[in-house]
Amino acid sequence: MENFDFYNPTHIVFGKDRLKELNKLVAKDAKVLILYGGGSVKKFGTLEKVKENLKGRHIIEFGGIEPNPSYETLIKAVEIVKNENINFLLAVGGGSVMDGAKFVSLAANYKGDNPTKILSNVYVQASITESIPIGTVLTLPATGSEMNSGAVISYNHGKFVISSPLLFPKFSILDPTLTFTLPATQVANGIIDTFIHVVEQYVTYPVDARFHDRTAEGILQTLVEIGNQTIDNPEDYDARANLVWCATMGLNGLIRGGVPQDWTTHMIGHELTALFGIDHAKTLAILQPSVWQIRKEKKRKKLIQYAERVWNIVDDNEDRKIDLAIDKTRAFFEGLGVKTRLSDYGIDAGGIDEIIASLEKHGRTALSETKDLTLEISREILENAK
Ligand code: NZQ
Ligand code: ZN
Repeated sequence: MENFDFYNPTHIVFGKDRLKELNKLVAKDAKVLILYGGGSVKKFGTLEKVKENLKGRHIIEFGGIEPNPSYETLIKAVEIVKNENINFLLAVGGGSVMDGAKFVSLAANYKGDNPTKILSNVYVQASITESIPIGTVLTLPATGSEMNSGAVISYNHGKFVISSPLLFPKFSILDPTLTFTLPATQVANGIIDTFIHVVEQYVTYPVDARFHDRTAEGILQTLVEIGNQTIDNPEDYDARANLVWCATMGLNGLIRGGVPQDWTTHMIGHELTALFGIDHAKTLAILQPSVWQIRKEKKRKKLIQYAERVWNIVDDNEDRKIDLAIDKTRAFFEGLGVKTRLSDYGIDAGGIDEIIASLEKHGRTALSETKDLTLEISREILENAK
């Protein structure tokens, strides 16, 4: 196992009927900006309940944060925070709203002349030493943003990862019943995003990290068990509660510190979203089987472990074992109603050229756990995903 730090200060408030605890989680004299998305929280009554439980506080609302939240939208919220002396941000929504709040939290304390620099420069991110505290009310289990310190912001045909230890939410309310209204396609996205977060921290090369490996395998098997159940029966509380907790634990640092990580699928996936507007998780479902096929030799040992321990595949032939595990993974995604080929989304050879050009523009030219995944190999992965 490699050396690591583990730091995660987020207070998780999990379960039914926990929204009323907002009243004790948020200071009575707080000036709160409530951030939300395109309106689902209004339509389904969550926003109303949130406001009711914050009565007495100075509250301003900021709606309209789009999926894959854009810099242009968020910078308007930064102005409100500055002009109104906001001292608490409450994100009510999915990953896009939580990530948007994180950007606002950092950008409101940026002293330079061009806040877009926060997006592409880790030194600028690290130079910001104060942030506005954030709380979240989760409505979509997927990204893990509710318990991590990262965010992904869209700007100028690119998606940029920001990260700072200041961005861990102070608290996150995870009430699985608030996710019952999600359409099936978003639940499938949540299952797949979580699945890929876990495999990008697990299917690399062995470092004898047994806790990490078995925790990863436990999350993956849980997702396989409850995937269709929670799509077909959205109000099955226990199935949904298991999805919510898997999503949170999949990307909160627990299985990351101490092991190699491969974020190839995410990095190429971000270009697909930025260029073609494909949902984040759907890009991952297209790419992951292909990444494994192309990187089979590099990942051989962990792919065999994945085949044996997650899919219970018994076969004397290692190659057959790996191939079957990849086939089963693809079938799992397709069984959730998510297509797994570029052609399913209308992306042809010209599209692949555009993706490669974007990867180059964004400096994503040495990907993977071994940093040797070049643009040529990214092209192979994309060709193989047609
Ligand atoms: O905008 P509204 O009207 O709220 O509708 C949303 C949106 O259209 C809807 N929705 C959310 N909760 C709902 C609901 N509809 C009905 N009932 C509910 N309870 O779902 C749609 C998608 O929402 P979004 O927040 O965009 O989805 P998700 O949570 O999958 O977030 C995706 C974003 O997170 C980033 C992605 O890149 C993408 O921008 N990620 C963030 C990460 C992180 N912070 O650590 C890691 C991830 O890998 C990922 O990159
Ligand atoms: Zn993701």
